[in-house]
Amino acid sequence: MATVRDDGAFGEFVAGQLAGLPGVRAVTLGGSRAAGTSRPDSDWDFAVYYRGAFSPDSLRALGWPGTVFEIGGWGGGVFNGGAWLHVDGRKVDVHYRDLDDVEHHLAEARTGRFGIERLLFYLAGVPTYVVVAEIALNQVLHGDLPRPAYPDALRAAAPPRWWGDAQATLRYARDGRITAGARGRPLACRMLGQDVRVTTDAAGLNGAEPQAVLSPLTGAAIFLVVVVKPGSDNADTVRGLCGDLAGLIRAVGFRGTEDYLTCVAGLSATAWDRLAGETRPAGLHPFVEFRSAGRVAPATAGDLLFHIRAARMDLCFELATQIMARLEDAVTVADEVHGFRYFEHRDLLGFVDGTENPAGQLAYDSVIIGDEDPAFAGGSYVLVQKYLHDMDAWNALTTEQQENVIGRSKLADIEQDDSVKLTSAHNALTTITENGQEIKIVRDNMPFGHVGTDEYGTYFIGYARSPATIELMLQNMFIGRPEGNYDRLLDVSTAVTGGLFFVPSVPLLEGLAGDDSDGEADAPADTPSMAGPARDGSLNIGSLRGASHDE
Ligand code: HEM
Repeated sequence: MATVRDDGAFGEFVAGQLAGLPGVRAVTLGGSRAAGTSRPDSDWDFAVYYRGAFSPDSLRALGWPGTVFEIGGWGGGVFNGGAWLHVDGRKVDVHYRDLDDVEHHLAEARTGRFGIERLLFYLAGVPTYVVVAEIALNQVLHGDLPRPAYPDALRAAAPPRWWGDAQATLRYARDGRITAGARGRPLACRMLGQDVRVTTDAAGLNGAEPQAVLSPLTGAAIFLVVVVKPGSDNADTVRGLCGDLAGLIRAVGFRGTEDYLTCVAGLSATAWDRLAGETRPAGLHPFVEFRSAGRVAPATAGDLLFHIRAARMDLCFELATQIMARLEDAVTVADEVHGFRYFEHRDLLGFVDGTENPAGQLAYDSVIIGDEDPAFAGGSYVLVQKYLHDMDAWNALTTEQQENVIGRSKLADIEQDDSVKLTSAHNALTTITENGQEIKIVRDNMPFGHVGTDEYGTYFIGYARSPATIELMLQNMFIGRPEGNYDRLLDVSTAVTGGLFFVPSVPLLEGLAGDDSDGEADAPADTPSMAGPARDGSLNIGSLRGASHDE
C-alpha cells in the first residue's frame, strides 16, 4: 500500500532519496510545484545535480516504478536525460544535471554567450541558458547551488539575437515567395536540408525559385536602370554580378535584418539576347511605345533593372552602391530614382496607391511564370515607367473631379460605385478581364521628387506573369477604350521613361555567371542557353554558391 504524505512531506522524502544517490550534490524542485502554480494532479519535477559520474542504475535501485533513461538519453545537451516515475501514486520527473556543464553555461551567460539547441516541438530551439535559469529560479531542497542573478551581458545579448534570427527567417520566407500551400515547402525543406528541387518541382516550377518579386510594400526603394557597354568584358562583368547578387543582398541585408532588404534584377530583351543566349522567354520583347493625340508612353534605354526595396533608404543605398561597385565601368546609368513612402501609401496626387493589389496565392499566380513557359518557370515580367506630374493642373481640379479621374474616393480610398464611375477612370481602364476573370498585376509604385526643381513624380512598376496584361492596360490608358476614351491621369502626368524586363528565377539569374556564350549559339537551338534543366540536366544548383537561401 502506498504511503500517504502531504505535499511538503512528499517533496522532502523524494529529494532526500535522490540526494543520497552517489555523486549527487544537490536536488531542486522546479516546474509548477516550485512556481506555486500547481494543481493537485500536477507532476513533480526534480533535478539531480551531480559532479563527475552519475549512475542511473542507482536511481533504478530505489525501486520506484517507471522508466529511467541513461545519461544523454533524451538527446544530450540541455535535455541530458532523466526519468519518468511514479512515487506514492504521484507522477515524478527527474532531470539529470551535470554541475560542470551547468557552471560552464553560467560562465558563458555571464559573458552574453549561449547556444541554441534543436528540440522537438520548439520551433525556435531551446537556449543553453535554460540550465542557468533553473538554478536561479528552482527551489533547492538539498545541497548548495549558485543562485545567479540575470546576467547583464545576457540581458543585452539575447533579445537582439532571438529577434535577429526571427527576422532573418521571416525575411528568408518572404524572399522565397512563401505565400501559401506548396510554397511553404521550400522553406521547411531547406531547413531540413533537403534539395530545393524536390520542393519547387512539387510546386510546378521545375526547380526554379522566384526572385523577391512579391516583397511586402516597403518604406523606401531605388529603381536603377543601366545600359551595358559594348564588349565581351563588360558582358562578363554583368554576368558575374548576376551570380553574386544574392550574396551582396545577404551581406548588406544582414546589417539590418528587420528591414527586409530585397533586390529584383531584370533584363531587357536586348540584354537577354546578349548575356543569356538566343532563346528568349516567351513574352520578352523590346518595350514598344504607345502614342496617341500627344500622349506618349516612350521606350527608353535600359538593359538591366534593379528594383531595390527596404524599410530604410540607407540599406537600399548601400546595396545600390555595392552593385555599382561591382559593375565598375561596364555600364552607364540610364536612370536612378529614389522612391519614398508618402503617408498612407499615397502617391503625390494624394490618392492611396496599391489598394487593389492581389495578395497571397493570387499575387503569386498573377506574377510568377508557371507551366506555360516551363524553361522560364519561376520568372516574371516587370514594366517600369517614370511619370512626372503637373501638380498645378492637378490641384486646379476639385476633389470630386480628381476622384472621377482615379475612380476612388480620395480620403477614404473607397472604389466608386459602377453607377458613378466613368469609363475613363484609371481603375476602369486598368481592369482587364479575360473569359470573365480579372487578370491582375502587382504594382509597387513609389513617389519621388525634388522640390527645388518642381519635380513631383510617380515611379510606376508593375509585375506580371505576361507583359501582355500590362501592355493592354497601357493601351487603354494612352489610346483609350474605346479609342479616345483615355485615362485623364495622363492630362496631368507625363511618362518620361519606359522599359520591359524579364525577371529570371534565382537559379537562372545566378546561372548567368557561368554562361560565357555572349549570345553565341552554342546551346541547342530549341533550349534557352541559360535554362539549367534543359542544358545539362541539372538545375545549376552548383552555381548557388554562397546563395542566400541555404544557410
Ligand atoms: C501616373 C502614374 C500612376 C498613378 C499615379 C497611379 C495611381 C493609381 C491609383 C491611385 C490607383 C487606385 C488604388 C489602387 O488600387 O492601387 C491605381 C490603381 C491601379 N493602377 Fe495605377 N497609377 C499609375 C499608373 C499606372 C499604370 C501605368 C498602370 C498599368 C499599366 C496602372 C495600373 C493600375 C491598376 C491595375 C490598378 C488597380 C485597378 C483596380 O483593380 O481597381 N497604373 N493606380
